[in-house]
Amino acid sequence: MTLGTMYFGTTVPEAIGVDVLDEAFDLGVRTWDTANNYAFWVPGGTGGESEECLGRWFAAHPGRRDDIFLSTKVGARPRHGSKNLADAVGLSPTAIRGQLHASLARLGTDRVDLLYAHIDDETVPLAETIGAMEELRDEGLVGEIGASNLPAPRLREAIDAASGHDRGYRFLQQRFTFLNPAVGTDLSPHVLLDDAVAAECAAGGITMLGYSPLLSGAYTRPDRPLPDGYDTPANREALAVLAQVAGRSGLDSGQTVLAWMAQRATGVLPVVGVSSIEQLRSAATAVKTTLPQQDIHALEAVRMAG
Ligand SMILES: NC(=O)c1ccc[n+]([C@@H]2O[C@H](COP(=O)([O-])OP(=O)(O)OC[C@H]3O[C@@H](n4cnc5c(N)ncnc54)[C@H](OP(=O)(O)O)[C@@H]3O)[C@@H](O)[C@H]2O)c1
Repeated sequence: MTLGTMYFGTTVPEAIGVDVLDEAFDLGVRTWDTANNYAFWVPGGTGGESEECLGRWFAAHPGRRDDIFLSTKVGARPRHGSKNLADAVGLSPTAIRGQLHASLARLGTDRVDLLYAHIDDETVPLAETIGAMEELRDEGLVGEIGASNLPAPRLREAIDAASGHDRGYRFLQQRFTFLNPAVGTDLSPHVLLDDAVAAECAAGGITMLGYSPLLSGAYTRPDRPLPDGYDTPANREALAVLAQVAGRSGLDSGQTVLAWMAQRATGVLPVVGVSSIEQLRSAATAVKTTLPQQDIHALEAVRMAG
């Protein structure tokens, strides 16, 4: 699993964030995800808080940076003072370089292991964006490059644009969980990891990561209703099967979703957001649990039927 730190330093107080990072390190959860705009939309947030929280943890634990696979994202940070993604700095080569250097300063490190283009920027040719990111990789400031929130046709364009380049995007981080929203549901700015996207990733040898796997806790918490577009007859049936599998496995339904994601034939690595040590432990237990193959098949079948 990847630990998502989106709200660390804003709605998750920094002291709790730091405790969670300590526990994650001890549990061996050492793939950590942030972005240069987390979490600007929270009242009082500027967008640098999550990276700064991680930076202070690295500063307090000299030598441990090398044990963490650290990803951040650029392109979706609004220009100074704006709270609107329409004002995002974007993905021109100059903007990418400037944003990465600002991230490295906040993180207190000289490189990130994975840099994502956070949202699509149709004003810049994909070949220019990819070329600029590869340049940073060749300079050693970035280990791998990836994209986030690309629909299948744009991902195909990105794969084509990368030919002639060195390697192009190796990772894709997209919205993914067990339940699918009704067709036509507006998730913007999120983009689903649907079957068409998964097929492009398979063809391009791109590793898939899925964010928002727990739907903010909706699989287990009465205080968290399903998001708009998810309360469908097909999903109610799927939730019943999920509950049966969970009952057999000793996991709760949210944990069962994480275990299924990690174990399914087309693996999608879960990017899990937590706001307490208990939630982190719950997720870590889940991804270490092996579900019987027949339960994996049952979950896939009811999901496909929907
Ligand atoms: N690339 C992108 O565009 C993008 C977009 C969104 C997210 N992300 C990444 O994905 C990560 C996760 O995103 P997300 O927060 O939307 O994920 P999520 O899986 O939908 O929700 C995480 C939330 O679920 C609740 N939760 C966690 N463990 C639980 C448990 N055991 N029982 C009950 N509730 C539990 C917590 O809510 P409370 O904190 O309220 O308790 C937690 O903050 C982010 O941190 C970020 O790194 C990326």
